[in-house]
Amino acid sequence: MLLEGKRALIFGVANKRSIAWAIAQSLRREGAELAFTYQGERVEQGVRELAASAGSSLVFPCDVQDDAQIDAVFDQIARAWNGRLDVLVHSLAYTPHEELENRYVDSKRENWLLTLDISAYSLVALTRRAEPLMREHGGSIITMTYNGSQRATPHYNTMGIAKAALESSVRYLAAELGQYNIRVNAISAGPLRTLAARSITGFAEMEEEFRKRNPLRRSLDQSEVGDTAAFLASDWSRGTTGTIIFVDAGWHIL
Ligand SMILES: NC(=O)c1ccc[n+]([C@@H]2O[C@H](COP(=O)([O-])OP(=O)(O)OC[C@H]3O[C@@H](n4cnc5c(N)ncnc54)[C@H](O)[C@@H]3O)[C@@H](O)[C@H]2O)c1
Repeated sequence: MLLEGKRALIFGVANKRSIAWAIAQSLRREGAELAFTYQGERVEQGVRELAASAGSSLVFPCDVQDDAQIDAVFDQIARAWNGRLDVLVHSLAYTPHEELENRYVDSKRENWLLTLDISAYSLVALTRRAEPLMREHGGSIITMTYNGSQRATPHYNTMGIAKAALESSVRYLAAELGQYNIRVNAISAGPLRTLAARSITGFAEMEEEFRKRNPLRRSLDQSEVGDTAAFLASDWSRGTTGTIIFVDAGWHIL
């Protein structure tokens, strides 16, 4: 029970394959109390059912492009949890499908800005609202990235640029908030079969290649990311901030 007494707000559950759901399960197993957000009515019922199975009835709508919705989530969390939040999980991203199909050089301005807004700026927007709820007792903020931020990965394109901005934000946020014992870290995951991943052209072939050649010679599953998030959420990682931790079976060293 690494996280007994801790309260975690989780953004990014769409269904049971979502990385955010695996993180929720690990956090719950270690004793954390959870709250969730969902994007859009289409997934509301499913997210409510998953939340209930994790003992939570705190489920709020939130499209991260909408400041009023973000404010409403944090107002409700502050009320429900008496002004204290210990863990924030940011596990969301979006890019229009054409950005994953076309050449990067053909990226459209509106798609590029939309991708960066949802996938990178949102971490800043959420962290700013979490700060007052974490300032007194400290806190842990965790986001999800991919090594397409550092390497030009086929088809990842604009999402790679968004992940580079996200990873840089992790460092800037960690530098500013460390004095309040608010830690900010990212997990860089290898390929996992989720809704978002399936929309990446060539994902299946890439996953196959990954499985055959990574140092551990096997696929990953979401629970491996979940358990790393539990470590980052807990006091066991109290000396770690501004860091990207790879959960990719060692793929990034090759
Ligand atoms: N699956 C992988 O292989 C992999 C690898 C490394 C990193 N990641 C990252 O993990 C994170 C979670 O993705 P996933 O693979 O679990 O897929 P997923 O499709 O289950 O989750 C993506 C989430 O983003 C949310 N989202 C998109 N636009 C939003 C908006 N405007 N407002 C609020 N929420 C929005 C969706 O509702 C969904 O819950 C993403 O940041 C992704 O880039 C995934």
